[in-house]
Amino acid sequence: MAAEWYHDAVFYELYIRAYQDSNGDGQGDFRGAIQRLDHIKSLGVDCIWVMPHYASPLLDDGYDIADYTAVHPDYGTLNDFKAFLDAAHARGLKVITDLVMNHTSDQHPWFQAARKDPQSPYRNYYVWSDTGTEYADARIIFLDIESSNWTYDPVAGQYFWHRFFSSQPDLNYDNPKVHEEMFNIIRFWLDMGIDGFRVDAIPYLYEREGTNCENLPETHEFLKGMRRMVEEEYPGTLLVAEANQWPEDLLPYFGTRAEPEFPMCFHFPIMPRLYQSLKAQDKRPIVDIWARTPDLAHAPDIPPGAQWMTFLRNHDELTLEMVTPDVRQWMWEQYAPEPQMRLNLGIRRRLAPLLDRDKQKWFLLNAMFLSLPGTPIVYYGDEIGMGDNIWLPDRHGCRTPMQWDDSRNSGFSTAQETYFPVHQEYGEINVAVQEKDPKSFLNLMRFLLKTRQGQLALRRGDFEFVETGLDADSTTAVLAYRRFINPRSVNEHQSVLCLFNLSDRAQKVTMGKDEGTRSWIDLLHPHTKPWHSLNADLGPRAAHWLVEITTH
Ligand code: GLC
Repeated sequence: MAAEWYHDAVFYELYIRAYQDSNGDGQGDFRGAIQRLDHIKSLGVDCIWVMPHYASPLLDDGYDIADYTAVHPDYGTLNDFKAFLDAAHARGLKVITDLVMNHTSDQHPWFQAARKDPQSPYRNYYVWSDTGTEYADARIIFLDIESSNWTYDPVAGQYFWHRFFSSQPDLNYDNPKVHEEMFNIIRFWLDMGIDGFRVDAIPYLYEREGTNCENLPETHEFLKGMRRMVEEEYPGTLLVAEANQWPEDLLPYFGTRAEPEFPMCFHFPIMPRLYQSLKAQDKRPIVDIWARTPDLAHAPDIPPGAQWMTFLRNHDELTLEMVTPDVRQWMWEQYAPEPQMRLNLGIRRRLAPLLDRDKQKWFLLNAMFLSLPGTPIVYYGDEIGMGDNIWLPDRHGCRTPMQWDDSRNSGFSTAQETYFPVHQEYGEINVAVQEKDPKSFLNLMRFLLKTRQGQLALRRGDFEFVETGLDADSTTAVLAYRRFINPRSVNEHQSVLCLFNLSDRAQKVTMGKDEGTRSWIDLLHPHTKPWHSLNADLGPRAAHWLVEITTH
């Protein structure tokens, strides 16, 4: 298996506006973020994904771009961006940025020119209709806000197509000029020295009548061409696909050996199932979705180096698009009892409050997340168990200022007023307080990441489920799998047995035959005694990463 750097990496999702304000205007900026890079580094992170930092009217928090080659003035200048990039690189941190290709802001000069003049060469940069009735089979994504994917523009005298907000007209990928523009934008940022892109909303680039306008062959053709260009001109660039799709529809985004697309794709379907399994105390949702997920290292026509990216939370609502309607309803009842906790097909809450701030559940969930195959990404603030503010609109409740200490505005800003209020819990929940507590979320996160990173098998190993025994309860309540480099190897760093009791009651597992002299140490509880048998009682919600040791 080809192991690229991103197979061994931990990622961190950074929202510049929320991180550190350096000039007292109440908005985080690149100069501020530079001051906080040591915190990111201290977590054991290798690569930062910077959320959109471009000039934008911010009607979708920067995912509505008005100028692809300018930094949003709130965040600083191109020079500030470059200084941030250099400072990250100096610490051995890579940086990828968001590439929003599907749409622009309606404030983008292309759209402004297009709507004013049907003869303008920019008219054909967007998708127009006289009736707004085409592509009726395409679903509406922001369905709490939008009622159609078409909006009438009185200036243009036509309807324009948009998969997201009506302030985000979709670009027309049937126009080769659009490809050229995008390629030049990619070149601009790669020339500056970034390490790659998280590519936004890629299933929706093309529209075709009679389809749901997702994952179309034309879209894959374009993406293959994009990868070809990037590989030829900037070899080794990382491209991460944001395609919120079922495993079988995700797979084509890796491309084929002959024509690769993305080296890494977010694994959307596993994410809600981790929460579902935890709440239901039942491993089957996780087991079922992995059964539908091909093993990338051994899949026949997947390009070498293909890797999943896994996550527990991000800047959007916790999406329930990839579960059945029944499960979605159940998840809403369990995790989002208040109406203002729900948005579109998801849950607009942060990690710690979703788990009722229960550290044991948090540890268990993270121990599963960090031992499953895939490169993990941590959302800013979740490393300290930051809370959400469900009274803020849209997805902003999960995007409040980072909580550094208990000083004014949590050490984030000296301004009178910040872009959104700092969470009221910042006096108790902040980095400074947690630095001092060895059992804080922060230090547990560092411990988990370090422990994971110390095991080759957890970073790159193969994966197989392990039977937990015949006890009726434990067959569904205890999740067990092995990550291993070489099936026959007993070398201690080559295989990790991961055991999770999802239930709130003790469970007996009978996984051993006659172990004889074998013993295991538990990486997650390094100060406990070694195990001498795999026939064991697991405590409620216990998590173990077991590594065999040689005894004499
Ligand atoms: C992606 C982003 C989301 C944004 C949308 C439209 O899903 O994660 O925040 O609103 O694309 O660009």
